[in-house]
Amino acid sequence: MTKLKSLLKAGFKMKTEIFEITDPVKDLPAILYAADVIKNGGLVAFPTETVYGLGGNALDENAAKKIYSAKGRPSDNPLIVHISDPDQASLYTYIEDPSAKLYMDHFWPGPLTLVMNKKPVIPDQVTAGLQTVGLRCPSHQVARTLIREAGVPIAAPSANLSGRPSTTEASHVIDDLNGRVDVILCQGSSVYGLESTVLDITVKPAVILRPGFITWEDLSCISRDVLQSSDSSVKDDIPKAPGMKYRHYAPKAKIILVRGDTDKASEYIRRMVKSNTDEKACVLTVNECAHEFEGLCTFDLGCLSNPPQIAANLFSVLREIDKTDTDVIYSMYLSGKGLFISIMNRLKKAAGDYIVDV
Ligand code: TXA
Ligand code: MG
Repeated sequence: MTKLKSLLKAGFKMKTEIFEITDPVKDLPAILYAADVIKNGGLVAFPTETVYGLGGNALDENAAKKIYSAKGRPSDNPLIVHISDPDQASLYTYIEDPSAKLYMDHFWPGPLTLVMNKKPVIPDQVTAGLQTVGLRCPSHQVARTLIREAGVPIAAPSANLSGRPSTTEASHVIDDLNGRVDVILCQGSSVYGLESTVLDITVKPAVILRPGFITWEDLSCISRDVLQSSDSSVKDDIPKAPGMKYRHYAPKAKIILVRGDTDKASEYIRRMVKSNTDEKACVLTVNECAHEFEGLCTFDLGCLSNPPQIAANLFSVLREIDKTDTDVIYSMYLSGKGLFISIMNRLKKAAGDYIVDV
């Protein structure tokens, strides 16, 4: 039995309290209750503008251990530390790079995680033994209120079981974490739907370890010294962002990405779906190409002309497919720059890099 399986089988029977937050001001008592749980070493799943997070006190090594265990996450994969105000960054990190302030001023609060050298107050369990820490100041009002009221930074990976698609709706979090955390704060769908961009500024030039909603183009407006992740996320087989080496975001069905011009790719997919009588095959497509697959089982990611919409839908659609009996998904490869780099980063990981060129 793999470690993850045995962790999942170990059975978590804790009672999870679930609160619906419709208005962070009116529902402040629920957020205050959750903040108390964090202060006392418990775990709280909460909404952010990127994906839901699974949070615990970032200054408490036992809380970090609980996070790894609740998620079934390998302990060599560091956690991101969330602060409620950009000014708190200097409490937990050494801000050596002059451009750090520029990134913070420009993108915080928001979906950018900066990897910087950590101060000793952040326990090694949080950073999986690294001397750096990924720091992020989210813009979501519930997240910021929770962190502020807890009075401590909150360590939070995405609130999904390890290896599963990230959670962008409260129902996803309940599916994965009910019985495994103390509290779940629910507030609708995540606005961006893709996890934050992780930028390592301890090196020169800075390196995007994980592309996210903030693109290389956005970062390059602030500093010309930024490398794309594909150049460097794995060097000499040592992944720079430990999380990037694992198969991620994987639905239960196998995903095959089909790369080529639209006509050829659609023709190939139609042929494969029709000839595959042994397995239930579906197509993952976009609005503009849906007509190519009439009569077949399709899942629509949104409009190619609206990449933020595709980003926001991606994990939700992968989870929707999980609820069906689909065995194999043929997906159009969405080529492009900017946000398409981040979208394809997640889809390639979900597909375990299974790409067919036509
Ligand atoms: O949007 C997000 O970033 C969400 C929300 C909850 O804030 N969090 C999130 O955390 O996606 P997680 O743990 O699922 O992904 C964090 C990624 C992993 O790939 C991890 O290896 C990398 O960031 N990371 C964290 N700290 C790092 C560090 N010190 N050095 C290099 N990579 C780091
Ligand atoms: Mg994650």
